Amino acid sequence: MPVVAIIGAQWGDEGKGKVVDLLAEKANMVVRFSGGPNAGHTVINPYGEFRLHLTPSGIFNPGAVCLIGNGVVISPSVLLAEVEELNKHGVDTSRLFISDRAHLIMPYHTLLDKLEEEWRGSKALGTTRSGVGPAYMDKVARLGIRAGDLLDPDGLLNRLRFIIEQKNAILTKVYETPPLSSDEIYHQYCQYGERLAPFICETQPILQQALGRKEAILLEGAQGTLLDIDFGTYPYVTSSSSTVGGACVGLGLSPTCIDGIIGVFKSYTTRVGAGPMPTELRDETGEWIRQRAHEYGATTGRPRRCGWFDAVAARYSTHINSFTGAALTRLDILDELASIKICTGYKVDDNILDHFSASVSILERCEPIYEELKGWQSPITDLRHFDDLPLLAQSYVRRIEELADCPIHLISVGPRREQTIIVRPIL
Ligand code: IMP
Repeated sequence: MPVVAIIGAQWGDEGKGKVVDLLAEKANMVVRFSGGPNAGHTVINPYGEFRLHLTPSGIFNPGAVCLIGNGVVISPSVLLAEVEELNKHGVDTSRLFISDRAHLIMPYHTLLDKLEEEWRGSKALGTTRSGVGPAYMDKVARLGIRAGDLLDPDGLLNRLRFIIEQKNAILTKVYETPPLSSDEIYHQYCQYGERLAPFICETQPILQQALGRKEAILLEGAQGTLLDIDFGTYPYVTSSSSTVGGACVGLGLSPTCIDGIIGVFKSYTTRVGAGPMPTELRDETGEWIRQRAHEYGATTGRPRRCGWFDAVAARYSTHINSFTGAALTRLDILDELASIKICTGYKVDDNILDHFSASVSILERCEPIYEELKGWQSPITDLRHFDDLPLLAQSYVRRIEELADCPIHLISVGPRREQTIIVRPIL
């Protein structure tokens, strides 16, 4: 059976949670490889409605083992609250394992995320303030605390005292805020350690054994390609590799082991936080999409910026990730529109651009060139076959497929598992 990665193809919030939840029914293993509690995967299934920040969406399949890989940064309090909530709804979490190499989000990370955003003022990134950026900074600076450190309280105390001395210098001298107590943090994290101990282990051998048994393994991406630290709209990005390359380093998995890479595209575009978004609609149509689709951040509740489908960005995502197929989500949201636009190029200073620039200042000046398609103006939520879709909806899907340079395997026409059209099987 194959190993399939599910990757956000835009700025996150494409509906990966539903796609993974759906595919996880057939998977033996579901793994998270990057990001942290900044992610918010909404899943609606027979157990209820959940917003998962850290737990892989495969947790609802009683037959699937779930791993949180070394590339994820973990907030112990968020993870423990999530486990408690899942258990309350009768979901078994004994199949969840956390890599001992995964870095932890510490209280100074969330504090510094907030202080740094305030310091940036009008140049704020609009982070989720969950401490993700500072935690990845410490990982690279070799000042991180890893999940495995929780299993060695003496070592943890030594390391914490050393690190907090530096954090307190920054807090008091740069930000002029009170210092933190290493003893308090130590005691709090020892308690987390006791509760998380059953989950913490070396996850790479578990993955290796599953590969050896040729099991079906889903690699669950977080955020999206345009938020990737290298390939996104830098500096308006997250701090991890949300493209498929992140799955390899975030799990200890060779690229040769990945059989399929599915890009998840929303039928229009959204973005939460600051940074360029060429097709943003700052008008009543954008507001109409936001209200109809309830486009508010799953983690922060912030209103998402809404706009037309950007095929330039989509093609870029396809090529960065070599998508073997795509899932197109929320097509039903466009049901009532008389006309729908797709951005096929950008105009910048009288030049036509057909690629996604690395430069934020160019992207900010891009004027989208639109192709206008007639809307189908009928409800599609109850349809289950591609051929049953109104012809105008079929044309929209086909045009996206062509422009994004990627075959569409699955179309989501509503939030529930069954509200899905399978065009070609994925797993
Ligand atoms: P951070 O990841 O919290 O540092 O935030 C950096 C940028 O990524 C901000 O614009 C956030 O809004 C955005 N971001 C982070 N995680 C997500 C996500 O899961 N969905 C959408 N945007 C996200």
